[in-house]
Amino acid sequence: MSSSAHTDNTSALVNQLITQIKQHGPISVAAYMSAVADAYYARGRVFGKDGDFVTAPEISQVFGELVGLWCITAWQALGQPRNFQLVECGPGRGTLMADALRTVWDVAPVFARSASLHFIERSEALREEQRRTLAAYDIDWHKDLSTVPDGPVIIIANEFLDALPISQFVRTAAGWCERMVTHGANGLEFEVAPLPNATIDETFDDAPNGSILEQSEAVEKVVSDIAALCAERPGVALLIDYGHMITDVGDTLQAIKNHAFHPVLETPGEADLTAHVDFAAVAQTARSIGASVHGPVEQGLWLNRLGAGVRETQLSDGKPEADVAVIRSSIQRLVDPEAMGTLFKVIALGPAGCAPLSGFSAGTD
Ligand SMILES: C[S@@+](CC[C@H](N)C(=O)[O-])C[C@H]1O[C@@H](n2cnc3c(N)ncnc32)[C@H](O)[C@@H]1O
Repeated sequence: MSSSAHTDNTSALVNQLITQIKQHGPISVAAYMSAVADAYYARGRVFGKDGDFVTAPEISQVFGELVGLWCITAWQALGQPRNFQLVECGPGRGTLMADALRTVWDVAPVFARSASLHFIERSEALREEQRRTLAAYDIDWHKDLSTVPDGPVIIIANEFLDALPISQFVRTAAGWCERMVTHGANGLEFEVAPLPNATIDETFDDAPNGSILEQSEAVEKVVSDIAALCAERPGVALLIDYGHMITDVGDTLQAIKNHAFHPVLETPGEADLTAHVDFAAVAQTARSIGASVHGPVEQGLWLNRLGAGVRETQLSDGKPEADVAVIRSSIQRLVDPEAMGTLFKVIALGPAGCAPLSGFSAGTD
């Protein structure tokens, strides 16, 4: 798509948002994120050097390979069902699944033959890219999890939950009031609703005025759906994302364009809008539905437990020094606490009473 087409689309989205605000009043941050996400992912080419951001599977093949190996152990924990649904939510370019499938066909062909593949993806442009990446496989695409056929499931999702809309509530003298998006003299602007409209846990009663607390109905809905499948089919799910282990105040809404932070309300639809995932809320939601919860653990720890170091040695064997350095630095980026190793967390869900899953300890991590 040309840059003038981008600009036209951005103007169209801004005009649509302004018309909506003029007719019906300020919109919530969640409504803004939802409108922007549809426009943004419809563009397709958002990943990699020429796009806006890079995800773990695009950094190193080891990420998808280890997720593939984890899926085999999860399948064993489910009793090795001969027919099951292997589902990925938000597969991006399809790189993670391609690396995972190459590995499982090598290591556990019975697992691979038993799997039917399903992608949950809204963007037509990305569905096309996924179709190209995984041309050798039969895949069914879905808008959401409700149409995934019966049977045991294994669900994976990397950097999917962070793309879902969040609501923000601001502590004021009157109580917790929702942060809204309106239209002012300088274009789209944030404002705080005049009346409190949120029920916030009393833990945060002492938060100073101006504090922001985030909640996500969309994440709660998706995690509830995933947890219900894990509890009932049965199934296991692996959710990886950046976020925090403990619910706390803070503004984590961010936009990334050309690999740099970008103002959240500027040129909507041209930057990737995300928020940190509240893993405490994810765990609580999953438990309330009857699923078992494993972790969360930091991504670096989880990848190392699964054998990132061993795989680095295998991949490096016999390679020229320059290639070895690239292999090492890309894996380091995934596991290093200064890079993605601690910011990103991994959580797994399973049926009630599920045995400990690979990479997660039996007690608390
Ligand atoms: C940040 S990308 C992550 C891509 C991939 N998992 C990776 O690690 O490279 C988010 C993905 O989720 C998809 N997505 C975002 N919101 C969605 C929604 N509500 N329903 C289905 N897919 C969605 C996007 O189109 C994209 O494929």
